Amino acid sequence: MPKKLSQADQQMYDRIFQQNRDWADGKTKHDRMFFKEHFKDQDPQFLYIGCSDSRVSIGDLTGMDIGEIFVHRNIANVVSLEDENIMAVLQYGVEILKIKHIVVSGHHGCGGIEAANSGKHFGRMDSWLDKIREVRFKNKEVLDSIRDHSLQNDMLAEMNVIAQCEKLLEVDFIRDSYFEKGYPMVHAWVYDMRTGLLHDMEFDMDGCLEKLK
Ligand code: CO
Repeated sequence: MPKKLSQADQQMYDRIFQQNRDWADGKTKHDRMFFKEHFKDQDPQFLYIGCSDSRVSIGDLTGMDIGEIFVHRNIANVVSLEDENIMAVLQYGVEILKIKHIVVSGHHGCGGIEAANSGKHFGRMDSWLDKIREVRFKNKEVLDSIRDHSLQNDMLAEMNVIAQCEKLLEVDFIRDSYFEKGYPMVHAWVYDMRTGLLHDMEFDMDGCLEKLK
């Protein structure tokens, strides 16, 4: 016998399904073929690599519809070349979907960044957080010069986005495709949860590729 949900949990659970029905009805109200058309295939131009944080839902905050953004999310938007999950997403995105833009997006107030910057340990999360601690270590001097801890975290979040963009440029199929076809282009964004606004950090992809040579 499955465990019975509390009344509050049951209400939230039911709300999810009710809202889903409302959403699906809304989509087909003006376009009866909406789901049939999307079922055929997907042709997103963007691959978004963002944080798992529940407040950073890229479709919601950009108003992009289903089918428009291919998504990978993990704690603190890390590009780990040893992570078969993200590598599969990247290869599928670049080689099969022929994505034009890969965006790494961090956000201010990121719990993963805060954890990595705290000097504390977090059990099983530590090997993941080590990838952000690496970025912290490389930028130690600049970060230590910032007294305000919350500003320091935000600065690390921005440095982390750039560092993860640089890692994308080490991936052979991304480099090969860019040199051959001019895409995917790599972009660095930061989302400010205080204002709800995205900022383009204007990542210098060509300059960075030059440095890697
Ligand atoms: Co986060």
